[in-house]
Amino acid sequence: MQERSSFLIVANRLPVDRVGESEWRRSPGGLVTAIAPVMQRRDGAWLGWHGAADEKLEPFDYDGMHLIPIPLSALEVERYYEGFSNATLWPLYHDVVATPVYSRVLWDAYRRVNERFAQAAAEAADEGAVVWVQDYQLQLVPAMLRRLRPDLRIGFFLHIPFPPAELFCQLPWRREILEGLLGADLVGFQRPGGASNFIRLSRRLLGLPHQKNEIHVDGRVVRAQAFPISVDFGEYDNLVRRPEVIARAKEIRAELGDPDHVLLGVDRLDYTKGIGQRLKAFGELLAEGTIQPGEAVFVQIATPSRERVEEYRRLRNDIELSVGRINGEHGILGMQPVQYLHQSYTRQELAALYLAADVMVVTPLRDGMNLVAKEYIACHHDLRGALVLSEFAGAADELKHAFLVNPYDVDGLKRAMVAGMRATPHELARRMRFLRRRVSTYDVNRWAGEFLSALERPSTVQPLASAG
Ligand code: ADP
Ligand code: F6P
Repeated sequence: MQERSSFLIVANRLPVDRVGESEWRRSPGGLVTAIAPVMQRRDGAWLGWHGAADEKLEPFDYDGMHLIPIPLSALEVERYYEGFSNATLWPLYHDVVATPVYSRVLWDAYRRVNERFAQAAAEAADEGAVVWVQDYQLQLVPAMLRRLRPDLRIGFFLHIPFPPAELFCQLPWRREILEGLLGADLVGFQRPGGASNFIRLSRRLLGLPHQKNEIHVDGRVVRAQAFPISVDFGEYDNLVRRPEVIARAKEIRAELGDPDHVLLGVDRLDYTKGIGQRLKAFGELLAEGTIQPGEAVFVQIATPSRERVEEYRRLRNDIELSVGRINGEHGILGMQPVQYLHQSYTRQELAALYLAADVMVVTPLRDGMNLVAKEYIACHHDLRGALVLSEFAGAADELKHAFLVNPYDVDGLKRAMVAGMRATPHELARRMRFLRRRVSTYDVNRWAGEFLSALERPSTVQPLASAG
């Protein structure tokens, strides 16, 4: 029999990627970046899929974490992960910037895989354990797990936006999803708006009463609250003080031809990130002569992501076409204004890129938080650098001293990029000081700490026995 844990993370993915046959490496991505340090501090277990189909692996330990792999068949990867998670929920929760696919076959797979995760968590959790379920791929797990193990303290955190009723109600399985989430004791969101959307929907669709942020359901109280996620500020702050990272940042600028301005985008190649919009703005600035080739270089790092989902394939083609067009029209021999890299990088290389960049361009059309914006800030103790940030990223709530933009407004985007490039060092330092104060105070440890202490703190509200 396996050892049971008093603290469990349940997430779609394990926090590791396989390199070669049997080696593992910590994986990139917002969720992993945020939780790995917490897992290492508390002696817990992490349940998740290891990334390959049709393969059953035994639990193993990596980097101070006990990992319990949950297997997925190739068909489940297609229907639960690529399908319902990333072709239905992802676009629906991101303002339908792509059209969601509604299919009963995909829904069935989602339900079955959620059941498997819940079952595995029920087996791995010790009596009275704290279980923290993560993100949109596993929204049914809280209720399924509660049915199996009513003794557990269950938290859920949604890393992506939670949409308003007008959008959420498109979902044919809207009641089931809401009921799934309501199985938790605490449901966390990135923004207060997500929490209030959830409370309003619980009342409208399920008739559940609430007092402030506490919803009464089946004689229990479920709290809905915002906990804006953050980054490991100290890790990035330390990285960019290392001589080899400073040297690499200088080298990057030299390799780019020492332009006056280095602009940078770092994203998963995802249609929510507004990569096309920022390239269009940059292309127009070159076309109208506001910036000269050689004066500014735009480095766009785009991590490969969800490559078998149709919308992501289309996006890749569109982006690569637009990069080719800008470079074809405005490049000169040996100098391309856009440097596009469809690759993953180490944190050290990313830190050097952040340090080298004068203007960080973060323009999602909708984003739960956006950790890249916060990583950039953590890398600028030199108080240099401008952050151009979409007002539709969760991070915009906290980072008011960024150059805030509406990414749909190409002229506004151009103005913000130019303002970032032309701002005086004094102005940049003033803004960066505010930004760093916020990110250094509200870092990832504080996020996880606040969520977990809220989860472990019982509600003071008396449950209504007849509600639900
Ligand atoms: P999302 O969770 O939607 O991917 P975030 O901006 O919140 O978006 O988080 C992305 C995370 O992935 C950040 O921690 C960032 O450093 C990391 N990341 C993004 N691009 C790369 C890359 N090319 N190589 C390595 N890590 C990356
Ligand atoms: O932040 C949203 C999210 O989907 C996380 O759940 C995940 O870790 C990250 O983006 C990367 O996505 P995927 O696991 O689909 O590659």
